[in-house]
Amino acid sequence: MAKNKFLWGASLSAHQTEGAWNEDGKSPSVQDVRPRANKQIADFTVAVDHYHRYREDIKLLAEMGIKALRISIPWTRIIPDGVGEVNQAGIEHYQDVIQTILDNHMIPVITTYHFDLPEVLQKHGGWTKRAMIDAYEAYVRVLFTNFGEQVKHWLTINEPNIMLLSDQKILGFSYTHQERYQAFYNLMIAEKQAIKACHELIPDGQIGPVPNISYVYPATSKPEDIRAAMYFNSVRNWAYLDFSVKGLINPIFKSYLAATGINLTILPEDRELVSQNFPDFLGINYYTSATVEFPQVGQDRMNGVSDQQSEDVFEHGFYKGVTNKYLKKNDFNWTIDPLGLETTLEMINDRYHLPIMITENGLGAYDQLTEDQQIHDQYRIDYLNQHIQSMLKAKDNGVEMIGYLPWSALDLISVHEGIKKRYGFVYVDRDEQDLKDLKRYPKDSYYWYKNLIKKMEQKNE
Ligand code: BG6
Repeated sequence: MAKNKFLWGASLSAHQTEGAWNEDGKSPSVQDVRPRANKQIADFTVAVDHYHRYREDIKLLAEMGIKALRISIPWTRIIPDGVGEVNQAGIEHYQDVIQTILDNHMIPVITTYHFDLPEVLQKHGGWTKRAMIDAYEAYVRVLFTNFGEQVKHWLTINEPNIMLLSDQKILGFSYTHQERYQAFYNLMIAEKQAIKACHELIPDGQIGPVPNISYVYPATSKPEDIRAAMYFNSVRNWAYLDFSVKGLINPIFKSYLAATGINLTILPEDRELVSQNFPDFLGINYYTSATVEFPQVGQDRMNGVSDQQSEDVFEHGFYKGVTNKYLKKNDFNWTIDPLGLETTLEMINDRYHLPIMITENGLGAYDQLTEDQQIHDQYRIDYLNQHIQSMLKAKDNGVEMIGYLPWSALDLISVHEGIKKRYGFVYVDRDEQDLKDLKRYPKDSYYWYKNLIKKMEQKNE
């Protein structure tokens, strides 16, 4: 395969931006029907109305100088019943979105599925059921057949680790431990089917997984804490990448499963699929690092919700998240650790030797639109700059980096916190309940990123 040119880009997901949640044949996803009783946060019915404004949004993003735009396609628009009939309106919409990206001289990078499972499939047990693998395979084959001519960069399933380890609570259902890890296995097999189908249907295409990976530190040099970090690294990070890249169930993860009484149902026919289909590159989402200690007897989780992206992680007998006193936090209690990105990338490279595209990295913050309609987000510039420097050091140290696509291209509705937690280079004028005019305003970070891309590209010419 030809060497990849480094891509400066940005990322989005469909459900967090599009809105139009019931238009043109779309069915509800688990995100659309999510319970929001206690939090007055924006829902996804309108989001930032990207479904109707994608042409102006894509143009504005192209003017920022990015060369790649990551978006996701919602299963609910392509096969609204989850399985069966294809919705032609959905196909045509994304053909046009993708063509618009190409016409604006950007490369589309497409995630096949970003947290927004058709509700109808969740009602049948979702990923705990083996039938999901066939349903997903049929869906991605529709994507590859219809968009394979235009799209050569594909990402499989967004963050299966976060989806399984934390987000069920948010989505209003809860798997038992056994179901959760059977869902892990089914997701990993589904991903292998996507890799196989992509290579069959798009011979000049590339496909990679897109987990959320951050290296886990031990709280101290106590041997028990070292083991706590070893376990959490395997459960949170390596289990997903080992399966994808090496076709094996990580041995430490396996011992964790055995110790917690989990028995995975593995079919004999999976063996061939798993051992013959591998990704071309790795998409990595990185926001923060994690630090854990060995939990003392009698200790319990902090507030009952395990959130894999904050320090609130807990597993009896294995690990407990703690505050890392050496690191600062953002407004939403996520630890900021740019050096952790370098460590994470080098660890991934050491284990897997595949090209890496950063598919998410960014700062959720409260932004203010000033009276003269500007957004001075120096804190975001600082965060991004520090992480970019860290990525470049990893690159200098031999990691094959093929792209940086931070989160997010535009303001979008944060999965956990609504619109008040903003990530974008472009401000969208709405608040949690008041849609205002949804007007777009480039932030200071937009101009900074534009300048940086220009300089970096000149340097590499
Ligand atoms: C990643 C997801 O886990 O984290 C994104 O892929 C999400 O969809 C991002 O937006 C940040 O999380 P949050 O909860 O702040 O939106």
